[in-house]
Amino acid sequence: MRKKILAGNWKMNKTSRELKAYFEVFLKETKSIDVAMGHDFELMFGVPFPYLQEAVKASQGKALIAAQNLHFEKSGAFTGEVSCEMLRDIGIHSAIIGHSERRQYFGDTNEIVALKTKAALASEILPVICLGEKKEERVSGMTFNILKSQLEPVLQILSPQSNVVIAYEPVWAIGTGLTATESQAQDAHAFIRQQLSTRLGQDFSNKTRILYGGSVNLKNVENLLSQPDIDGGLVGGASLNPEEFAHMAIITSKLSRR
Ligand code: PGA
Repeated sequence: MRKKILAGNWKMNKTSRELKAYFEVFLKETKSIDVAMGHDFELMFGVPFPYLQEAVKASQGKALIAAQNLHFEKSGAFTGEVSCEMLRDIGIHSAIIGHSERRQYFGDTNEIVALKTKAALASEILPVICLGEKKEERVSGMTFNILKSQLEPVLQILSPQSNVVIAYEPVWAIGTGLTATESQAQDAHAFIRQQLSTRLGQDFSNKTRILYGGSVNLKNVENLLSQPDIDGGLVGGASLNPEEFAHMAIITSKLSRR
């Protein structure tokens, strides 16, 4: 059984004060599933760099706190970048890699995503590797070809022992309020899982969690996360509201016990 993950991606949102207030509300709202969090399913928050440590403290051991990016070099003249060693140094053990906004605005290519994944694994940082097609690619029937080409460089650096999380996030569904239907999402997840199996074997494919992202919210989370190949959600907008995200966590907890 793959343990589900409910991950919030805060992107470039929230200040220190807002972060503290958020976790006060979130932890209060999730009191009834306190024990399940981290045990039956995993919670994760992708938090801006300056607040990572504060989030570790404020989440009181209930959630994995993830960086939203990292650099693949160990150290050196890379102004504005943060290395895996630095993340480990402040107690961070997971990171979102290759989010479509990084690909679109900051030039993260499939090859860079593979380098970042490799660096993360070498530092025992759990990578959440994002991929997904654009609207025109889906419309022209290219979805699976795109997913395959995004996966390819990453699969080359993985071994059957690697521990990674994949997030399928159709770009047309991110921040748009448009969600992939359950069957669109399930089909893409099944395709990704098939690729994992072909390249790295059945055991790897069975153990690897694949999250869906793209306008996941309180209304659609249950149906999406009930699909056989959907092991959790990567949630942007809806994760910013502590009440809404807490209720999504309660639903995830319920699904994890099925
Ligand atoms: P969204 O963002 O839930 O606001 O669509 C998802 C993401 O970008 O990870």
